Amino acid sequence: MKRKVTKAIFPVAGLGTRFLPATKSIPKEIMTLVDRPLIQYAIDEARAAGITEFIFVTSRGKGALEDYFDNAPVLEAALRRDGKDKLLDILNSTNMESGAIAYIRQHKALGLGHAVWCARRLIGDEPFAVILPDDVIAGEKSCLQQMVEAYEETGGSMVAAMEVPPEKTSSYGILDVADDSERLVSVNKMVEKPAEGTAPSNLAVIGRYILSPDVLENLETIDRGAGGEIQLTDAIAKEIELGRGVHGYRFEGQRFDCGSKAGFLQATVAFALQREELRDEFAQYLSDLTSLPRAAQ
Ligand code: G1P
Repeated sequence: MKRKVTKAIFPVAGLGTRFLPATKSIPKEIMTLVDRPLIQYAIDEARAAGITEFIFVTSRGKGALEDYFDNAPVLEAALRRDGKDKLLDILNSTNMESGAIAYIRQHKALGLGHAVWCARRLIGDEPFAVILPDDVIAGEKSCLQQMVEAYEETGGSMVAAMEVPPEKTSSYGILDVADDSERLVSVNKMVEKPAEGTAPSNLAVIGRYILSPDVLENLETIDRGAGGEIQLTDAIAKEIELGRGVHGYRFEGQRFDCGSKAGFLQATVAFALQREELRDEFAQYLSDLTSLPRAAQ
């Protein structure tokens, strides 16, 4: 029996060292694209896909994340007093219903698989989603929603997938698929961060998953994998070994790797250009900027 996916895990325990010194005092997930923290994009995507329970796997120093989703009574009172209704609406859109968010600490940095496993008791025996907030995906329909719709047909486990340049495959989980032409593909094998030249394809796992609770059991027994960490990819790959279905879903939309500085900057530009109040001025700036070097030649 296929059940509705209502729970999502957000692994947010990482140290964010690629963004030091900023991440010395703020969690990476609070860094903003235009004016919204990365985590807000992830939450909005999950909500659009029908998720109602949000499980954050955190670590020491992530208190700002908890505060972000809390009510802010002093700020709200000040905005109300000044009649700033639009700002109040923005603020209210970040409030979460009481009990909708749970925080679990990952006490040791043992990898993504371990982080997901830390939430096992909150998941129980239901299919669940995993969203990696570093991967920001812009599109008409939320990536997770596209996957939920496909999952209603397939059941089992599903990962978001996207072609990456061959020289980048060693940074991703890589899929070996039977039929390479379709949006929804059945996965034969998965390998986490294959050594250069050994990847079975260039179809990479992107940070959106819908997983069977069996994956949590696999996480109990698998060995440490790439980088000496307990890898989520390995636990999903075990589903295939056990004869259970795993699908890759080539989503529609543009993915930004906000775990890297270049990706973060690209996302900032793309999202700024989508905003009505910024578009004209910012596009003009970009156009001036790119025409300057040409004029100098
Ligand atoms: C994680 C996963 C990897 C996946 C990637 C997508 O790696 O382990 O399989 O391809 O996210 O962003 P990380 O980027 O955390 O090293």
